[in-house]
Amino acid sequence: MNEIIVTREQREAKLEGMGCKRKRVEDIRFTQGKGNYVDDVKLPGMLHGDFVRSPYPHARIKSIDKDKALKVPGVLAVLTAEDLKGVNLAWMPTLAGDVQMVLADGKVLFQNQEVAFVVATDRYAADDGINAVEVEYEALPVLVDPFHSMDADAPILREDIKDKKDGAHGPRKHPNHIFEWTVGDKDLTDAAFAKAEVTIKELISYHRTHPSPLETCQCVCSFDKVKGELTIWGTFQAPHVIRTVVALIAKIPEHKIHVIAPDIGGGFGNKVGAYPGYICAAVASIVTGKPVKWVEDRIENLTSTSFARDYHMTTEIAATKEGKVTGLRVHVLADHGAFDACADPSKWPAGFFNIVTGSYDFPTAHLAVDGVYTNKAPGGVAYRCSFRVTEAAYCIERGMDILAQKLGMDPAELRLKNFIKAEQFPYHSALGWEYDSGDYHTAMRKMMETVDYAGLRREQAERRAAFKRGETREIMGLGVSFFTEIVGAGPSKNCDILGIAMFDSCEIRLHPTGAGIARMGTKSQGQGHETTWAQIIATELGIPADDIMVEEGNTDTAPYGLGTYGSRSTPVAGAAIAMAARKVKAKAQMIAAYLLEVHEDDLEWDIDGFRVKGLPERFKSMKDICWAAYNSPPPGLEPGLEAVSYYDPPNMTYPFGAYLCVMDIDVDTGVYKVRRFYALDDCGTRINPMIIEGQVHGGLTEAFAIAMGQEIRYDNDGNVVTGSFMDFFIPTAVETPHWETDFTVTPSPHHPIGAKGVGESPNVGGVPAFSNAVNDAFSFLGSTHIQMPHDFWRNWQAAKRLGAIA
Ligand code: CDP
Repeated sequence: MNEIIVTREQREAKLEGMGCKRKRVEDIRFTQGKGNYVDDVKLPGMLHGDFVRSPYPHARIKSIDKDKALKVPGVLAVLTAEDLKGVNLAWMPTLAGDVQMVLADGKVLFQNQEVAFVVATDRYAADDGINAVEVEYEALPVLVDPFHSMDADAPILREDIKDKKDGAHGPRKHPNHIFEWTVGDKDLTDAAFAKAEVTIKELISYHRTHPSPLETCQCVCSFDKVKGELTIWGTFQAPHVIRTVVALIAKIPEHKIHVIAPDIGGGFGNKVGAYPGYICAAVASIVTGKPVKWVEDRIENLTSTSFARDYHMTTEIAATKEGKVTGLRVHVLADHGAFDACADPSKWPAGFFNIVTGSYDFPTAHLAVDGVYTNKAPGGVAYRCSFRVTEAAYCIERGMDILAQKLGMDPAELRLKNFIKAEQFPYHSALGWEYDSGDYHTAMRKMMETVDYAGLRREQAERRAAFKRGETREIMGLGVSFFTEIVGAGPSKNCDILGIAMFDSCEIRLHPTGAGIARMGTKSQGQGHETTWAQIIATELGIPADDIMVEEGNTDTAPYGLGTYGSRSTPVAGAAIAMAARKVKAKAQMIAAYLLEVHEDDLEWDIDGFRVKGLPERFKSMKDICWAAYNSPPPGLEPGLEAVSYYDPPNMTYPFGAYLCVMDIDVDTGVYKVRRFYALDDCGTRINPMIIEGQVHGGLTEAFAIAMGQEIRYDNDGNVVTGSFMDFFIPTAVETPHWETDFTVTPSPHHPIGAKGVGESPNVGGVPAFSNAVNDAFSFLGSTHIQMPHDFWRNWQAAKRLGAIA
């Protein structure tokens, strides 16, 4: 039965497919407080676990006395490394090929490291138990500064591997050295520098920060002794990976492990890895026979789960006098903390940092990265970025501004002069990537025209003159940033996590009445997958998005996938969705041909069904076809209408964008005001423009936080001094600037719907825009580079150092 819908526009509008600003369906439950988060999981007899943590950043553990804790009412067990050794779980593998203590084994290596796990009938009893555990420490010398990690007299942190000459990524130069990773042609690059007319060299540091999602990391583990099955509800960005890793390290058959990631309150990379809390809760459940819940508090989250960045990038650019770049040389000192727990694909110890040539046509480049240990928390996750891409974008975008300053050129003009041209795509970069598509000149010019860039520069010149005349105490900065991202890990031939290949998946099952369910290997943490995935299916299959239920996060029902991080969902799972839909459509076409008594080739697709070519009145809607698929399929064709696709992308996707920040800074107080922020993003085909805008707003707000104040800072004794939201900058609506968004559309040529990722882009492009604005503001006073974060205090210090304050 076809519904009578008058126009094509109405039929299309009813689908709410790709390009529609469809409202987020998940918000119905979120705005009514009906989300279902891990902490909402309450099981009969459930126990609570919590950690005794080290106050010392580096110390030997002389003894742990649990006796008093075990006498605390409600405390049932106290686990230490000695207990975990019995089940071979005192250490766990990290995603980066290192090992990490689950509970302190003989020594502690960072402040707030997990020392013992107290299990009790409620959280209060667990807390009392923690206070009653007696640990005797012997303090050891502390290593905080990564630039001293490889000193001859540096304290050796990892005694477990001190004699190992090789690590997961090749030879180690020092007991505190993790790896050296090099890419590019060194000789050619050195030669380019030897004959360069102009060069710049600057140490550009991207400080340590933290993804700090609203909901901290947590889990509930429930071991069923009778069935031998372990069920884990957790805040997992990659549930299937967790299931496989648990199977491998706990030796529980994988089909007896059920991992469920319910609603997640933000991840930003923080919830990709495995943490001691998960292992301890699972062991505690096996030991006690009861479900065990572990929920981090904010301080624990900020100080012990995965940090981000902490890259110190010595950046050199060679160029001609006219401003044509001829070479790029970067050395990175990467501070990985106490264990290398970076969440990068296995073969990429510095992630995709080799996208550091950015949007520019560098004929040659060379990159070397040294990873080192310090007495800090482990991690190194992609905080709203694709595996170290934000560090790379910051490095090159600051570098280009510094070069422009040296050449006396406008930073936007320098970029336009060096962009990869539209006709050069697919473009092979000097550091090994194949950029799929781009039109950088168009995006940059659109940005410059929209904001009246030339007018802003004129105003800046006038304001600088007025400052010099003493008529104003405010300086004005223009922060230009043009970034190229690399998202969609990845082609499985070169991307895996612990050997698990990085494809993604979708299963679509249509029901007889024309509705359906779709399941993916991804896991939304706020990105709106339930809304947008249904839109892809709506366009591909002509079924209204409202009639498609999207389900993620349950490893028993979802097809195997590698999860959501690094903006990989749209490039990989988004493609799997389109491919699964096309399989369904192919069968639907066979059924339609049978119903319309024509050959399949005589049919054409028309919005929501198939039509006989040349006979427009002969039409079968997808709704008709769904009914027939179950109740009157063509003879010889099995009933049902469903398909699954595992999509292994041929390449990554390369979104890009042109951003501009206009900032005024009062030199006497260091107080800044973001007067204007314009963000043009190109993420190829746009599935839901409203969700894209939301993603850009969120990412820019995080970029603002990172550039302007957010930092995980340690004092010289290894104490974390920004371990709570009292000190760790989280902007509220009061501080957050107004965002102007814009776009161009350059589809990805290899993605089935031409889409690229977008979630990370504003963080990648935003940070250099803010930092370039601050640096641009101060540049006329003689500075070339001021380190982030640019809080009021540092701005004031810069003003003083540069002589702007008497
Ligand atoms: O992997 P993650 O979901 O974090 O990032 P993403 O693939 O960039 O997608 C973030 C959200 O933006 C999803 O809801 C996407 O469907 C949506 N999006 C879109 O509407 N159009 C695009 N071209 C890219 C993403």
